[in-house]
Amino acid sequence: MAERGSFTNKMGFVLATAGAAVGLGNIWRFPYLVAENGGGLFLLVYLLLVFTVGIALILTESAVGRRAGAGVLSAFSKISKRWTFLGYLSFFIPLLILSFYAVVGGWVLQYGLQFLLGNGLEMASPGYFAGFSADPLVPTVLALVFLALTAGIVIRGVQKGVEKTCRFVMPTLLVMLIILAGYCICMPGGLEGVAYMFYPDFSEFTPGLLIAALGQVFFSLTIGAGLIITYGSYLPKKENLVTSARAVAVFDVAVAVLAAMMVIPAVFAFSGGSPETLGSGPDLMFIVLPQVFVSFPFGNLIGALFFILVFFAAITSSVAIYEVGISSLIDRFGLSRKRAVLTLSLPLAAAVVLVSLGFGVLDFIQINGLGIFAFLDYLTNNILLPISAFLMSIVAGWVIKPKGIIDEICAEGVTFRGQKIFSLALRYLIPAVILVILITGFL
Ligand code: ALA
Repeated sequence: MAERGSFTNKMGFVLATAGAAVGLGNIWRFPYLVAENGGGLFLLVYLLLVFTVGIALILTESAVGRRAGAGVLSAFSKISKRWTFLGYLSFFIPLLILSFYAVVGGWVLQYGLQFLLGNGLEMASPGYFAGFSADPLVPTVLALVFLALTAGIVIRGVQKGVEKTCRFVMPTLLVMLIILAGYCICMPGGLEGVAYMFYPDFSEFTPGLLIAALGQVFFSLTIGAGLIITYGSYLPKKENLVTSARAVAVFDVAVAVLAAMMVIPAVFAFSGGSPETLGSGPDLMFIVLPQVFVSFPFGNLIGALFFILVFFAAITSSVAIYEVGISSLIDRFGLSRKRAVLTLSLPLAAAVVLVSLGFGVLDFIQINGLGIFAFLDYLTNNILLPISAFLMSIVAGWVIKPKGIIDEICAEGVTFRGQKIFSLALRYLIPAVILVILITGFL
């Protein structure tokens, strides 16, 4: 246990899982998906999926992890040798995610540092982000710095690194988001952004919207990536998984919605909600928010504070993502924590360099019309995470069976209402929903 680490109590687990869930997915990715997928309808579908499939799978994965008491590679082979491959899938997905996550982490680092140096006006100027992200050196170095910091925290073990950071970062981030969202809504044109975000326009429906929403649920709650299984394995039996799952989902949604309530009203305030800006994709946060900050007195300071908080939220997620691979190497191959981190970090660093250069010197590399970054994002979020979550629900519903999961949830006398619905959902509803959305995504 010394190498594996453990959480001090449920609050530690909830904070660390919320810290893993809340990250760039909420603040950077969610707002641009809402913006480019027609606003309210995407939000509606997203919320429906979080509070059905999402919560049920957080609960299931934490129970599977705690029951196995091991990282994903060992956890699945313990369940059944035939499902060992799912352990490998859950092992590789987080590494793929990390290869582009670190690049966005590097961008956040740049924006935080530049605001700190008082260069807000430059950040807010048109074309800045495109020029910066295409540079062969600075973003690549910063992405590697982000990766190195992640590796440094993981080497020290989950408990010290993650719990402590989350205790400070999560509440502060929440307060700052509330204030900033309030400010953005009050800007001239901001309310139009709120209407766009909350009014579901059913004519905006596309099959792509469904898969984008489902992929975002999995990415944001980090379902299907082995992470909740890993964190669950660090959790004592007496802790209540049901309340933890609920708390994590509610907190994750709250941060995502607040971030969108900051970014989307700002898009309407600064560009009148032009389809071009709404459809900016991954660039959106980096284009719009600097304009918001420079409109404040002390804008550089506020911008710096914001990006530094986002950076910490991103690090607590990347640490968790990395922990999936590390804990598996420790459990499966008996490596020391340090050895495991060193083994994975070199290939990962090479992947991070490739992804970062894909915005500039390697932008000729296109896979199915997508650059390296966009391809990896699409592959993990829209294909691999849904497949992995689907298989996970099959393992839980049909191999372990709902009774096994429920027994784990109710260990040491925890009450769990809604067991019947949960059992039916796990066996039929969740796999069916994921499968239908996954297939529709390809039509
Ligand atoms: N769940 C992590 C995030 O949302 C990956 O950033």
